[in-house]
Amino acid sequence: MLRSLLLAAAGSDRLGRLAGSAPAGRNAVRKFLAGRDIDEALPTGRALVDDGLAITFDLLAVETRSAEQAVAVRDEYRALLGRLKGAGLVPAAEVSVKLSALGQRLDEKLAYEHALAVCVAAAEAGTTVTLDAEDHTLTDSTLEILAELRKDHPGTGAVLQAHLRRTEGDCRELATAGSRVRLCKGAYAEPESVAFQSALDIDKSFVRCLNILMSGEGYPMVATHDPRLIAIAEDRARWFDRTADEYEFQMLHGVRTEEQARLAAGGNVVRVYLPYGEQWYGYLMRRLAERPANVAVLGRSLIGR
Ligand code: FDA
Repeated sequence: MLRSLLLAAAGSDRLGRLAGSAPAGRNAVRKFLAGRDIDEALPTGRALVDDGLAITFDLLAVETRSAEQAVAVRDEYRALLGRLKGAGLVPAAEVSVKLSALGQRLDEKLAYEHALAVCVAAAEAGTTVTLDAEDHTLTDSTLEILAELRKDHPGTGAVLQAHLRRTEGDCRELATAGSRVRLCKGAYAEPESVAFQSALDIDKSFVRCLNILMSGEGYPMVATHDPRLIAIAEDRARWFDRTADEYEFQMLHGVRTEEQARLAAGGNVVRVYLPYGEQWYGYLMRRLAERPANVAVLGRSLIGR
């Protein structure tokens, strides 16, 4: 019930405007987001890197509905990448990009060209790009664009979602030398025809995918807060003789920070997904919907405790 309310609130422009104008909004942003713009995001990233964590910046953008919006998103990423080196954040920082924000639903070729421009800027900055996974209707197109980008920028990363039935096959395709693959459960509501629905089936699929990635030749990026799956990933890394620089863990900013610190202290690479931007409201509501217990945490941050 609370989850449905939060997901409905995530889509409400009116509530978003109200929250954005409230002074408490700033505290909420601080808990789960890097900030509202690059100037706020860079120091947040700096503090995490100083704590021994790696980071991936994600510009929060609504799905792009015009070619102009797509250009603005591309340029924002280029501006961010242009500042990473000066801020001393490479190679610890990379960027995550949603192709839909670069115009994928308007024109795939346009999205590819914008993504290529972002990859070029990343290469100049000395870092890499990971393409976020969105709903299943975009998976084929995203993996096709990834394959094109990897011809000149082989370090470009993919995200695969364990809840999709196709993902074991995609893992096999991508478990090749130099291939960076983030494995997550999947955040989008998907129909039964394409996706496992129960938590158990999704977890089992996650483990099957993890086995393929860890036993393959690529670079697995294990993106979960789930203690059981983290323990299994640690076990598989040992079993397949992977050294600490041959895989990494990833978690969202503000979620299970003690576990992030524990894994990093144990010698693991831990990358924090660091969203920033004006479009923070929908992101925040989706995180709360995933774990309604966070409503209490957010409540405390809103009143500054
Ligand atoms: P889940 O939410 O099922 O939680 C499992 C367990 O983890 C809980 O039972 C609890 O024990 C623990 N836990 C979770 N949250 C906690 C909290 N706040 N405090 C304490 N314990 C907590 N999705 C997508 O579709 N496309 C993408 O590109 C990405 N990218 C991405 C990057 C990164 C770095 C991460 C971490 C995640 C994504 N995701 C994503 C989101 C992902 O698909 C998924 O929706 C969330 O990570 C939540 O799933 P978990 O694996 O964390 O488990």
